[in-house]
Amino acid sequence: MTLLVTGGAGFIGANFVLDWLDARPEAIINLDKLTYAGNPETLARLQGDARHQLVPGDIGDSALVGRLLAEHRPRAVVNFAAESHVDRSIHGPGAFIETNIVGTFRLLEAVRAYWTDLPEAEQTAFRFLHVSTDEVYGSLTRGDPAFAETNRYEPNSPYSASKAASDHLVRAWHHTYGLPVLTTNCSNNYGPYHFPEKLIPLMIVNALAGKPLPVYGDGMQIRDWLYVKDHCSAIRRVLEAGRLGETYNVGGWNEKPNIEIVHTICQLLDELRPKADGSSYANQITHVTDRPGHDRRYAIDARKLEAELGWKPAETFETGIRKTVEWYLANPDWVAHVQSGAYRDWVSQNYAERAT
Ligand code: NAD
Ligand code: TYD
Repeated sequence: MTLLVTGGAGFIGANFVLDWLDARPEAIINLDKLTYAGNPETLARLQGDARHQLVPGDIGDSALVGRLLAEHRPRAVVNFAAESHVDRSIHGPGAFIETNIVGTFRLLEAVRAYWTDLPEAEQTAFRFLHVSTDEVYGSLTRGDPAFAETNRYEPNSPYSASKAASDHLVRAWHHTYGLPVLTTNCSNNYGPYHFPEKLIPLMIVNALAGKPLPVYGDGMQIRDWLYVKDHCSAIRRVLEAGRLGETYNVGGWNEKPNIEIVHTICQLLDELRPKADGSSYANQITHVTDRPGHDRRYAIDARKLEAELGWKPAETFETGIRKTVEWYLANPDWVAHVQSGAYRDWVSQNYAERAT
């Protein structure tokens, strides 16, 4: 038995691959384009493990995907591959359209061709799980109920619009062709191996480097944080028992304003890696020009997943953020290696133009 995972050298995909192979004998073929966000070093401890094969390539390469499916005959495809950073989608939406929409379309077509020709028992057991985001639902105001699976799609950024389009394609391939799909819409993840362009790892690495901690606008935007390993356990559970054609919202009931997240990180660093002069990392906090079209609040109602499939997150925000800060302190080499010239170019492009 084999799984085809796409985007498994990125943050969530790599955590999924590592956790899966820690617990199960089933092999993984890992198709990843190795963009700036894909990092084989994250998978280094799998070197020599015959159950894992990293294949550099694009989900939009129909010939390659078709060949991988024919050769390895996976019982499921888990699609993590995407362009995933909102700020990059504002600077350059093209790659988001190409991978998240056109790439998902091509992947679905290659999988449909493979699935159609499977013997009946394998066809019945097959699953295509599409990993998506809560950002497709748009932005909440303070008193609004959290996003349920029935919420209308109202994406506001090029990123969320491209993910919304991919969700619609996945849905249509089920309704039109009968492809056995499952979709998960998750809130903001955090944890080990998170690329330091996103809020939590960026604040940790900037704090340790003595750099400013750039909070967009008033910092009162709310996100609903989920420890990445809890997201991975939810995906495993949906893959195992989710109802075909259904979507499941995944979240940890951890709504927090950004400024509170940044203060929590500073407090943990003050405790775990105190500065020589005794001052707090919080002195590095700087408010900078806001993101255009910045969604004010996301919140996930995860009751369907909890009630139907019995899933529960293992971490609270307090335990998860402590583990995360400890991980970054213990892995300075991984952090140093991802801060390449291309990373520094992105940081200067995104932050140089933001007034403080
Ligand atoms: P990431 O940017 O860290 O990783 C994405 C991976 O996909 C990278 O390894 C990259 O090389 C690969 N990739 C990009 N384009 C590709 C292509 N055309 N073909 C093959 N591989 C390609 O992203 P992530 O944070 O790990 O997110 C994974 C998935 O989860 C995405 O679909 C994202 O939309 C979704 N998601 C992320 C979050 C979050 O908080 N990070 C929350 C909810 C949903
Ligand atoms: P991010 O990690 O980019 O995730 P998303 O935009 O997909 O939710 O950002 C999380 C929140 O943190 C978002 O409200 C934007 C904010 N943010 C900052 O305030 N400063 C930063 O430097 C970054 C990267 C994000």
